[in-house]
Amino acid sequence: MTKRAVGNRGGATKSNRDRGPVMRNFNENTITDAVIERLAFATSPRAREISQALVRHLHAFIREVRPTQDEWMAGIEFLTRTGHMCTDTRQEFILLSDTLGVSMLVDAINHAHAETTTETTVLGPFYLSGPPEMPLGTDISTQGKGDPMIVEGTVRDSTGAPIAGAWVDTWQADADGVYDVQRTTNGAPELDLRARFRTDAEGQFWFRSIAPCYYPVPDDGPVGEMLKAQGRHANRPAHVHFMIGAPGFETLVTHLFIADSPYIDSDVVFGVKDSLVRSLETQPAGLTPAGHPVDAPSSLLRYDFVLAGKRQEA
Ligand code: BEZ
Ligand code: FE
Repeated sequence: MTKRAVGNRGGATKSNRDRGPVMRNFNENTITDAVIERLAFATSPRAREISQALVRHLHAFIREVRPTQDEWMAGIEFLTRTGHMCTDTRQEFILLSDTLGVSMLVDAINHAHAETTTETTVLGPFYLSGPPEMPLGTDISTQGKGDPMIVEGTVRDSTGAPIAGAWVDTWQADADGVYDVQRTTNGAPELDLRARFRTDAEGQFWFRSIAPCYYPVPDDGPVGEMLKAQGRHANRPAHVHFMIGAPGFETLVTHLFIADSPYIDSDVVFGVKDSLVRSLETQPAGLTPAGHPVDAPSSLLRYDFVLAGKRQEA
């Protein structure tokens, strides 16, 4: 058997990776500092900062919880199952982040609320980029099931000026609380209740749909087990998703929540904000407040979105 060369380890010309004092015999009180010290040669200051904070907080968690070996292994197995559950259409790690409030924390850090612009909330796992573009007024519901709803509003900048030609992507669950991407035939979803619209010259958009229903997030995997163990329900209140953009503006990711929906005060992913909650109005056949024709009584959901201007790079 040929021996592998071991280089100059322990010699006078140690590599960066082997630099520093002898590191051995760690115990509960010394291991954290030793690991943090080992990270001093990270490839960038940011990589060092993130790695050191990760070790500090992870070790503090372990010191607080003091897991048994079996509990620690159960944690490893939980994360392993979470990874195995992920596919192109099922992102169990994002769901874990959502249900632990981490996604909304990252959102809050990155979107400090300016009074004048529409608030943001979670993207969720059911967005498909490049949805089919449809003419204003299209009915995006293809199943003919559910209570009819008209959605209308405007897209403006923070001075109140309309933004013409903004793209408005929308997606929502059906009357049973299921997204089209969750109902696949031979692996392919049949697109339903999702579309892209463009605002007109007055910054207006409108479309026909059905009133959304509350629904449980996918709870047949490790995150569902976690929610059960935590004594929590898995539901989101009824909402319609929007992603809205225009050149020169930050892309807005948000929802409109329906005011009297079950779970409006206990959203499993902590996404509800007062400014995004709207009551469904009653719309008789005739014209909507914005002048759009309605042939049968419907619910009406109205909202004026305000986009933030793109931040200038310093
Ligand atoms: C959603 O609203 O589509 C969603 C958000 C977070 C987790 C699961 C679903
Ligand atoms: Fe949703």
